[in-house]
Amino acid sequence: MQNARYNGVAGALHWILAILVVAQLYIGWTFADLPRGTPAKGEWFVWHKTVGILILLITVGRIGWRVANPPPPFPATMPGWERAAARASHLFFYAILLILPLSGWVLISSGKTDVATTTLLGGMPWPLIPGVPDSAHEPAEVVHAVLIWATVALFVVHAAAALRNQYFGDRALSGRMPPFRRRGD
Ligand code: HEM
Repeated sequence: MQNARYNGVAGALHWILAILVVAQLYIGWTFADLPRGTPAKGEWFVWHKTVGILILLITVGRIGWRVANPPPPFPATMPGWERAAARASHLFFYAILLILPLSGWVLISSGKTDVATTTLLGGMPWPLIPGVPDSAHEPAEVVHAVLIWATVALFVVHAAAALRNQYFGDRALSGRMPPFRRRGD
């Protein structure tokens, strides 16, 4: 019998967000390196805004879905410190997935009194956050930069822990996230 594991919806949301976050880091670093004012920079930036807003919306949906559908319980054999570490890192991930795109949204909204929207892919208008003062620009930039590196660090820790649980140690900890299956099943 398969052990307790996340279901298909949780698995789909997990992998869609993982792919979007990796793509978003690539897009962000690519446009950041391009010279100011070039059309290429503008095009990459439209992708960056669109993927970032998508990450924000999917994260809100994912959190709502998780509250309504609690994750599978940890196996009884899992040590207390590992449960605490897993809970803390997952919570940290949700916080990053909300605050990182929000800081980007604040960044592009700051000091904009003449326009109410920004443009996403396909010319789709997206509202700017009203009333964000110019002085919010720099703090939002710092938050964005710090959380980018927090994402990279957490990603490495998370992937290392997941791969360790999947392939080594306690078998009851493997196969919790689809499409992975319990070791030996
Ligand atoms: C999870 C979502 C996001 C990730 C992982 C992400 C990642 C990045 C990365 C890697 C950079 C390049 C930083 C550098 O090397 O200078 C960047 C810059 C930037 N991003 Fe995002 N971003 C996200 C969401 C957003 C959103 C939703 C917006 C706006 C709607 C946005 C607006 C910006 C802006 C304006 C910059 C340039 C910052 C500056 O001037 O220093 N980002 N982002």
